[in-house]
Amino acid sequence: MIDRGRWSSSLMFVLAATGSAIGLGNIWKFPYITGVYGGGAFVLVYLFCIALVGVPIFMAELYVGQTAQKSPILAFDHLHRKNSPWRFVGWLGVMSSFLVLCFYSVVGGWVFDFLFKSVTHAFVGKTDEEITGMFGVLISSPWMVLFWHAVFMIVTIVIVSVGLSKGIERVSRVLMPALLLILVSLFIWCIFLDGFSEALAFLFAPDFSKLSSKAILVAVGHSFFTLSLGMGTMITYGSYLNKSNDILKTSVLVSLLDTVVALVAGIVVFSVVFTFGHEPAAGPGLMFQTLPSLFAKMPTGNMVSIAFFLLVAFAALTSAISLLEVVIAYMVDSGMKDRKAATYQIGGMIFALGILAALSFNVLADFKIGRFTFFDLFDGVTTNIFLPLGGLLTSLFVAWMMGPKAIEFILKGRGGPLAKDSLFWTMAIIAPVCVAWVLFQGISDWIQG
Ligand code: PFF
Repeated sequence: MIDRGRWSSSLMFVLAATGSAIGLGNIWKFPYITGVYGGGAFVLVYLFCIALVGVPIFMAELYVGQTAQKSPILAFDHLHRKNSPWRFVGWLGVMSSFLVLCFYSVVGGWVFDFLFKSVTHAFVGKTDEEITGMFGVLISSPWMVLFWHAVFMIVTIVIVSVGLSKGIERVSRVLMPALLLILVSLFIWCIFLDGFSEALAFLFAPDFSKLSSKAILVAVGHSFFTLSLGMGTMITYGSYLNKSNDILKTSVLVSLLDTVVALVAGIVVFSVVFTFGHEPAAGPGLMFQTLPSLFAKMPTGNMVSIAFFLLVAFAALTSAISLLEVVIAYMVDSGMKDRKAATYQIGGMIFALGILAALSFNVLADFKIGRFTFFDLFDGVTTNIFLPLGGLLTSLFVAWMMGPKAIEFILKGRGGPLAKDSLFWTMAIIAPVCVAWVLFQGISDWIQG
């Protein structure tokens, strides 16, 4: 019997799962898509999506992992039957985690570079143009991006290689409280900025005239990504839980923490943006161009910049760890006894494939498959197809194949028949239909450009 490892407590699971959920999605992507899709109304839709789609699928994934006590592919076999067709969902998860980490690590590397720049005062005394130009200089320099991609992957590999309690637990125990502390400090700091109330109005006063169907699509898709769903992450992390863990409580708690962090990160980012009368709809460059140039204009700007990029680096790292763990858990469960060797091999392969993503902005910028660079391809295939498909199928599996016993296991007798029916129909119909819509729209939009 292989010693798979186990969380030392449910709280430890909550810390690690929150670490997985809180990532670039919360601090980089959520603020910029909120900016692009018009603010308050988008936020409201996003909150609905988390509650109606995200949380039920989170529970479904946790149920699969916790009851099977196995990594994604074997978990479906265990719960259904040997060589079950549902193991395809597990495969999809392992493949998605692998591919997502290829480009996630590249972006993580950019964050490391910006942290390094902040620490070495590289933004101090520079003009707006010089600072906003730094991002372009970075991504167009192949050696720089490769260097930071390597550093990010090495740190991730080292943490995952030493195992659950010595690696992931230990790191989560330090980084997660540190992350929350930095975020709270930044929040308190931004209360005193002139743009604070404007930021609150932008995020929380919905203007539905700004809401497009594309915005709804993006909100559903993002609710997936931000909760680390559809990639087998929560199945894997759930498999290290005690069978007596309360799925309902832990799912709601992790989702709530993830959402609060996204909202607070949004408040911080937009308070700075509005203080200087900038446009909220800057897009992906918001974090790497707009913010550093604004930080540089503030008296305590360099410290804030260090704190901010440290926050993002911690968040990215704890998410990357969970992505690698999905693949490693599968290797270990399928008999590869040496966890260290498995981590080095798989991590090395991810680094190697990630080189294609890292070079997509420079030497391989003109190398396209269809219309896509490698970076776009890894990102597009996983975000638009694999993730929604994985989450949708897991939800259907738990509702229709596991049925009432799963619902009862999750609810543990709370809430009566109405709660049972609501949870069942949400998992069986509502969440899958919403996700299927995202899947079809996403595929067609993505292919048509
Ligand atoms: N939830 C992470 C984020 O918001 O950045 C991204 C992520 C991590 C997605 C791990 C999926 C995953 F398995």
